Amino acid sequence: MAELLIDKKHDESRQGEAFAPKDPTNHSFEKKFYIESYGCAMNFADSEVIASILQKEGFGITSRFEDADMIFINTCSIREKAEITVRKRLTEFRQLKKNNPGLLVGVLGCMAERLKSKFLEEEKLVDLVVGPDAYRTLPSLIEEAESGQKGVNVLLSREETYGDISPIRLNSNGVTAFVSIMRGCNNMCSFCVVPFTRGRERSRDAGSIVRECTQLFDEGYREVTLLGQNVDSYQWVNPSDNSIISFANLLEKVAQISPLLRVRFSTSHPKDITDEVMFTMKKYDNICKYIHLPVQSGSTRILQMMNRTYTREWYISKVNRIREILPGCGLSTDSITGFCGETEEDHQQTLSLFEYCEYDLAYMYFYSERPGTLAERRFKDDVPLEVKKTRLQEVVALHRTHSLKSMQRDLGKTFKVLIEGDSKKSDAHWNGRTDHNKMVVFPKEGNPALAAGKLNKGDYANVFIERCTAGTLIGRIK
Ligand code: SAM
Ligand code: SF4
Ligand code: F3S
Repeated sequence: MAELLIDKKHDESRQGEAFAPKDPTNHSFEKKFYIESYGCAMNFADSEVIASILQKEGFGITSRFEDADMIFINTCSIREKAEITVRKRLTEFRQLKKNNPGLLVGVLGCMAERLKSKFLEEEKLVDLVVGPDAYRTLPSLIEEAESGQKGVNVLLSREETYGDISPIRLNSNGVTAFVSIMRGCNNMCSFCVVPFTRGRERSRDAGSIVRECTQLFDEGYREVTLLGQNVDSYQWVNPSDNSIISFANLLEKVAQISPLLRVRFSTSHPKDITDEVMFTMKKYDNICKYIHLPVQSGSTRILQMMNRTYTREWYISKVNRIREILPGCGLSTDSITGFCGETEEDHQQTLSLFEYCEYDLAYMYFYSERPGTLAERRFKDDVPLEVKKTRLQEVVALHRTHSLKSMQRDLGKTFKVLIEGDSKKSDAHWNGRTDHNKMVVFPKEGNPALAAGKLNKGDYANVFIERCTAGTLIGRIK
């Protein structure tokens, strides 16, 4: 097994998802684009910004690449596997281009940024290469490409946040939405390509974030997830009075929009999450009690080589603090096995840390060397692939016991569930989430006082949990 992805943050089932509005109203548009997205939630949120930029310019959107005049792939470079997937997809689109020479194919996002114009040499049939900070120039680049030139813009910016652009919600359930609050990353984790593909960290205007979340609420959305590679270092200086808005301040502002709007956020770096953030979470019932706190490794020696700037003990003390201030808070993590020089002893330290933390969710990967990163330049990728995979399987197996335990702990309890829509398997059942981010399925009919039809998606229901699987709680309305 290469990796295990469980919830919607990096939902594997969403990789390669084609974006389309639920109710396309673009019959009159002359030219249509199709966009497919890979990678993290931030990339999916970017696709919604891109769709907004293009629609404003008069382009229509389609969910069928066969109908498109332009095909865009919003790409990810985080691991080699992500790039291989995109290359395969490009091969398929190349075939289409042979039969339809007017078709434009564009590579957007992190892989475009990493490979820059090299992409055009390697993939001759790609017409556009556009990095994450250059989406505003897409319309003019399309014009260039249409006139037979190649459209390339991979300039990174220190200011761009797309704060003034209202993303078009595509493939949305109408209940939950991602909202980017910052871009880039100033950390230099040695394994990671993101600082190179996304550039310097910058925070978005707090006013525009609150406006976007308010608008979402007014449109019927009931949950926003504030996104950034390192949300706890969010800091915006209000130019009108030079006041500083920290992440805790921002969380509070968004939570105050309405008690009916749930607020989530991702990702927290263990070195930056503060007591102030935890106390703000405690103060507001609608800030979900769930923290994604990537550990990467349980060995201080490896953490130092990874340049994570914390030790095993520091990480444990953060987890203890979370549990002290927010008892019962959901906790998830990311881990990498088989990083350069990782010994069996280091690996055992990761296992024992997992044992200590008993995460509710975990995204577990084996190390994939990325060109240009600090680790690639400094260290040898010397753990054999088989060993990486075996160690990953051990972490996955251990985590499974914890996640199952975590699900079983919820049996016999009642949770407030935000209904996101019909369950995948049956439209006689609702599907929703608890505050601590667990998926719940329950019959629409269950409590005579709440006959079917009284509840809708976007409503909250109190659900008594009767059974569970490894990933889902199953219950009935109480
Ligand atoms: N900014 C977040 C953080 O600090 O954890 C997330 C960064 S990245 C988008 C998501 C996860 O991918 C990381 O937490 C890490 O576990 C994993 N990852 C990043 N680079 C990797 C690599 N070279 N090989 C394997 N996994 C990697
Ligand atoms: Fe990558 Fe580290 Fe930044 Fe996360 S915090 S995006 S892992 S450099
Ligand atoms: Fe996200 Fe992949 Fe880029 S994880 S930031 S799309 S490298």
